Amino acid sequence: MINPLRGMKDLTFEESRRYIHIIDTAVAIAKRYGYSYIETPILEETALFKRSVGNSSDIVNKEMYQFEDKGGYDVCMRPEGTAGVARAFISDKLDRQPIKQKFYYHGPMFRYERPQKGRLREFHQFGCESFGEESVYEDFTIIAMISQIFDALGIGYDLQINSLGCSECMPPYKQNLVSFLADIKGDLCEDCNRRLDTNPIRVLDCKNKSCRLLLSNAPKLINNLCNECDSDFKKLTLLLDHANIRYTIDTNLVRGLDYYNKTAFEFISNEIGSQSAIAGGGRYDRLVEFLDGKPTPAVGFAIGIERIMELVKMPKTLPEGIYLGAMQEEAVELLLSLAVRKRLKTKVTVEYHARSFKSHMKNADKAEAKYVALIGEDELKNGTIWIKDIENREEKTIPVENF
Ligand code: HAM
Repeated sequence: MINPLRGMKDLTFEESRRYIHIIDTAVAIAKRYGYSYIETPILEETALFKRSVGNSSDIVNKEMYQFEDKGGYDVCMRPEGTAGVARAFISDKLDRQPIKQKFYYHGPMFRYERPQKGRLREFHQFGCESFGEESVYEDFTIIAMISQIFDALGIGYDLQINSLGCSECMPPYKQNLVSFLADIKGDLCEDCNRRLDTNPIRVLDCKNKSCRLLLSNAPKLINNLCNECDSDFKKLTLLLDHANIRYTIDTNLVRGLDYYNKTAFEFISNEIGSQSAIAGGGRYDRLVEFLDGKPTPAVGFAIGIERIMELVKMPKTLPEGIYLGAMQEEAVELLLSLAVRKRLKTKVTVEYHARSFKSHMKNADKAEAKYVALIGEDELKNGTIWIKDIENREEKTIPVENF
């Protein structure tokens, strides 16, 4: 027997119902915020992710599904959606147009991580990317949209925000941090020591308890922001306050992807174990330029669908459509042609074999149908069909041509 690969799984029945409900809910809300659907290839040039997600990130370093294709190209299964959408934005020359563009997407992402609860090698994201708007109002609007999506799905969350500064305030802060880290280098874990050389900011993100303790005295970027970043961050917190969106400021929140600047945020659930981030995002004003496009401010986020799957409060499914059955084999083919017409408007379940009245009623119940319509001996003789509204228990017999 061939099984799915480790860290990958099938979505069926209840899970696939949940998946669709999450996507439908998120799409409806994203449309209200002016986003349009974008689909980008799952396979891209490896260079795209190296340049955007960053050479020093764990994703690029250890987790890429990277291979040489038959043409000898170095390609990669997308580990996230932002890079591809930014690449498409540039490929389609949208960076040369003065119009702001907002895209939503959903689909599979691939990261070769060690699988555990909430951490898969193939997982799904719903994401949004907004290009061309530099105002912090857009950061607020995006956070408000995510909180509306989670509210609509009945999911509780903690929102954590931080500012990663800009090219003016980040470099002097980095220097400051590096000299602080140099003094405690010997006591930091192996990962931190590696990061110290490759991307020192990511040391702040270490989950190791003893590192966290040592890092609590580290200089905080939030206290060293330039005037513009400081004023934007304060505006963001005020806007969130006014909209009653609760948040905490996490000065160690740096995100695992290198393209961010200014606002960074994560939505956390305390109901799903250690892999608790259910959405993440932020501003990435330099990415389009890094990918050889015209400098374009941008901000976005992605929700991890599998992580919220169990948290979603599903709406009750209401009985829907018609169940068609015959008590006489000769009536089955008539029902099949009636079903084609009815399916123009509603969901139809047809039983292909003649059955007893009782077993049809049972089947209709299982099919969660609103109506049951049956043809028995009398109906066949008279050219009629018997219909019952299962909920209201009202029944009638009508000519087949009026059905
Ligand atoms: P990310 O934080 O890497 O950001 O991923 C977003 C979400 O995807 C996470 O919060 C988590 O819920 C889910 N996720 C990540 N890895 C896994 C995994 N191995 N298994 C299951 N779920 C996972 C990004 O991907 C950015 N592209 C978000 C963004 C969009 N920033 C700006 N625009």
